[in-house]
Amino acid sequence: MVMVSATEMINKAHEGHYTIGAFNLNNLEWTKAVLAGVQQANSPVILQVSEGAGKYMGGFKTVADMVRDLHDSMGITVPVALHLDHGTFEGAKACIEAGFTSIMFDGSHYDFEENLKKSKEIIELAHSKGISVECEVGGIGGTEDGVTSAGELADPKECAAIAELGVDFLAAGIGNIHGIYPPDWQGLNFERLEEINEAVHGKPLVLHGGSGIPFDQVHKAITMGVSKINVNTDLQLVFAAATRKYFEAGKDLEGKGYDPRKLLKPGCDAITAKVIEMVNQFGSAGKA
Ligand code: 13P
Repeated sequence: MVMVSATEMINKAHEGHYTIGAFNLNNLEWTKAVLAGVQQANSPVILQVSEGAGKYMGGFKTVADMVRDLHDSMGITVPVALHLDHGTFEGAKACIEAGFTSIMFDGSHYDFEENLKKSKEIIELAHSKGISVECEVGGIGGTEDGVTSAGELADPKECAAIAELGVDFLAAGIGNIHGIYPPDWQGLNFERLEEINEAVHGKPLVLHGGSGIPFDQVHKAITMGVSKINVNTDLQLVFAAATRKYFEAGKDLEGKGYDPRKLLKPGCDAITAKVIEMVNQFGSAGKA
């Protein structure tokens, strides 16, 4: 099976009232671990990289080639899309060239007219090549790739205007933030989510900052049109905890425990287990 755009899997999830996990990649180990998890759970998946992670991994072409090659060599049969997360205008164009099957253009930091104009251009270009597009209205709070946003609530009218451009799915700020939620977090703003969902007439919505949101809130969001949930921090946390345990137990000092294939294994296994747990919560397990 070849890699696919994210449109069909997200539309199916939207109709079936479940959500697709979009997991951020950091390196080859991450990619293998996430693919192993979704294959075991028989779940469609979106693998995504931020521009910073893309640069770290050797550029967008390296990422696209690596994901495609692993997808083939691991014999993956579940639908897989490769997506750019929070892309700039130039980054989105570069990923279209590099062989990504889906891209996000995040114009939320421009004034709205500029966001609309640039989103339109990217949507036309991507769609001419069969690539799905996510755009964003209203900043997602927290820090990602060094960019900090206070996290504003998206304006439903602006969401409607972007939806009308033919975007495939739309990220809208509803009080969600990237990274670990602070203890005084107010939770998702369901009133705003409802207004947005009505304004976009059933266009699938994307929830960023998917790590650490209580399950009842995730579930409610899914029933209100959220069909893609982004997860980065949760996988980083389980990887770091398992790796810490390995070192604290002195395993790196036993035999050939210093071998990177051995010392990265507990973290990778923890990622696979977390992915399986999450796609079961998201309802996409068994839907490939
Ligand atoms: P978390 O790191 O909070 O899971 O957010 C991921 C995300 O939204 C990527 O765009």
